[in-house]
Amino acid sequence: MMREDVNENRRQLLKWLAGSPTLACVGLPLFSAPQTVRRYAGKGDGLIASPEDAINVFDFERIAESVLPPAHWGYMATGTDNDATIQANRDGFLKWRLRPRRLVDVSKIDMSVDVLGKRWPTPIVIAPTSSNLAFHPDGEIAVALAAKAKKHLQVLSNVASTSIEDVNAARGEPVWFQLYPIASWDVTKSVVSRAEKAGCPAIVLTVDLFGGSNRETLKRFAMKDTRDCTACHSDERQHTPNYDGLERPANDTYQTTLTWDFARRLRDSTSMKVLIKGIVTPEDAALAAENGIDGIIVSNHGGRAEASRRATIECLPEVLDAVSGRIPVLIDSGFRRGTDFFTALALGATAVCIGRPYLWGLASFGQAGVEAVLDILREELQLVMMQSGTRSIPEITPKNIVAVV
Ligand code: FNR
Ligand code: LAC
Repeated sequence: MMREDVNENRRQLLKWLAGSPTLACVGLPLFSAPQTVRRYAGKGDGLIASPEDAINVFDFERIAESVLPPAHWGYMATGTDNDATIQANRDGFLKWRLRPRRLVDVSKIDMSVDVLGKRWPTPIVIAPTSSNLAFHPDGEIAVALAAKAKKHLQVLSNVASTSIEDVNAARGEPVWFQLYPIASWDVTKSVVSRAEKAGCPAIVLTVDLFGGSNRETLKRFAMKDTRDCTACHSDERQHTPNYDGLERPANDTYQTTLTWDFARRLRDSTSMKVLIKGIVTPEDAALAAENGIDGIIVSNHGGRAEASRRATIECLPEVLDAVSGRIPVLIDSGFRRGTDFFTALALGATAVCIGRPYLWGLASFGQAGVEAVLDILREELQLVMMQSGTRSIPEITPKNIVAVV
């Protein structure tokens, strides 16, 4: 490609990102990622050649970066501003230490948890992420098949590149559905009804991206991408199958007008359980409980929303305090290790969601990669539970950890 053409492509992509508050956040793309999976793997560059070779989930991150087109990698990796909140999420775990108990028979470990009336064999939940076809040709279907094989609760993004019906079929049971409401209540209601009709037991209203976010890492990687992105990134080619047949204007995902009135309206319009994702303060956690919301997810969107520079694990204790057991409190953002899950569970979280780690697995090896990531995380959690003398999730209590002063 000629240099001028490359520059023109970059200009077009940046213009497209800038011109669309929606897509500057959704950022990418609802279309498949041309990629050669394992292109760089096993070539003496230190990258693993198969999922079984992974020592921890970060092994998949390195492959994902090497196989994805730069703009798609940038979309997955990006935080906001200088990505300080991503770093804060990781650093937050270092403010806690473990207090292992000895001489307990830990030959049997039960990691099961009850989430809104259903028992799951593991507290590790698959968070909603958009546009999975941008990361692997099997997209959300590969994730659903992995969730089924490994028996994890999965939440599907409403702006996924696969329909809720297809994902439910692959998962073998209805997943939870995540919602970004759009301005038209009729359209929003139609999507909610569709999820309900598909059998989804819960809907997750994400509230931390109203107004958008400043994703500099995405913009920098997009500038490195020399492909012709306009072929996929045009309004005609944007495809969000969960809105098929509905008027979903481009630039209409992150409403700036939503208030608790909307949360109540949503609650009253569906028989599904309603959770709110993106709560980070005790004030909002209390409001959620007072407004009849069924559960919350403490989340800063994996550092992709506001540049708060505050770890969700740091927010968790005061949120739990405010809720005082009235509704379940899940958490995500930056969870990568068994010790991370253990810390949140010790503080009182009901379950913990992961985003990027399973996307790294997906980009690297498709379904097998997602399964391997889930296996590693469950095994790490099990090991910490054994080392701590805790045989079940209820046995993990604040006494198993200590804050660094
Ligand atoms: C997300 N996340 C997200 N959340 C949501 O409610 N709806 C969505 O469509 C998306 N899309 C999305 C895409 C990508 C590429 C990422 C990385 C994340 C946020 C996600 O649900 C979760 O909150 C974070 O990913 C958790 O942080 P970690 O585990 O990625 O650090
Ligand atoms: C994101 C949106 C889609 O984080 O939630 O990119």
